Amino acid sequence: MSVKSKNLTWHEGQVSRTSREELLGQKGVTLWLTGLSGSGKSTIAVAAEAALRDQGRLTYILDGDNVRQGLNSNLGFSPEDRTENIRRIGEVSKLFTDTGVIVLTAFISPYREDRDQVREIMADGDFLEVHVSADVETCESRDVKGLYKKARAGEIPNFTGISAPYEAPEKAELVVDSGAQTVEESVAQILGFLQDKGYLKA
Ligand code: ADX
Repeated sequence: MSVKSKNLTWHEGQVSRTSREELLGQKGVTLWLTGLSGSGKSTIAVAAEAALRDQGRLTYILDGDNVRQGLNSNLGFSPEDRTENIRRIGEVSKLFTDTGVIVLTAFISPYREDRDQVREIMADGDFLEVHVSADVETCESRDVKGLYKKARAGEIPNFTGISAPYEAPEKAELVVDSGAQTVEESVAQILGFLQDKGYLKA
């Protein structure tokens, strides 16, 4: 990513990430949930957040439908806008992770290159790609928001899975089979992964 401004100097603070993490008693990390609309990203993020809170962990959810009403209100669903959506959220996630918070993002993030770019700007181990995997037939049969119906009727252009692509991850740290398992099972899988990999030790 090129930087438009010149004459910038990075200012180091007196408080390190490590000291913030000690204060919180946890390690910052971003769980990047990616998957089709209706695959269960937001539902799983919300349930995982509650379970982590019950363990005394500080978390924050960044959700596509919410962030698009604020920070990213000037973005639509063209490939370029989706790329910019993910770029901004990647930067926000990086900042949150630096605070020591456990971040859960819930964006379709359909392009592999965009997700890889977020992985690229984050430190090793700070970015965990979680593929919330349910096929389009499953998501469409749920149609929680009624959007697939609208997309099939031609009322929503560039709808992911119908008239716009979804590029499934090839190197996700975790694949959550949300088409087959319950929300509770998916949450247990995510928390188990964090535990096993040492993210919840501090
Ligand atoms: S992303 O592709 O840029 O990552 P994001 O996760 O922010 O998408 O937003 C997806 C949400 O926007 C969907 O869950 C759905 O509610 C809504 N939406 C509206 N139009 C579209 C569209 N054309 N394609 C996909 N989702 C859409």
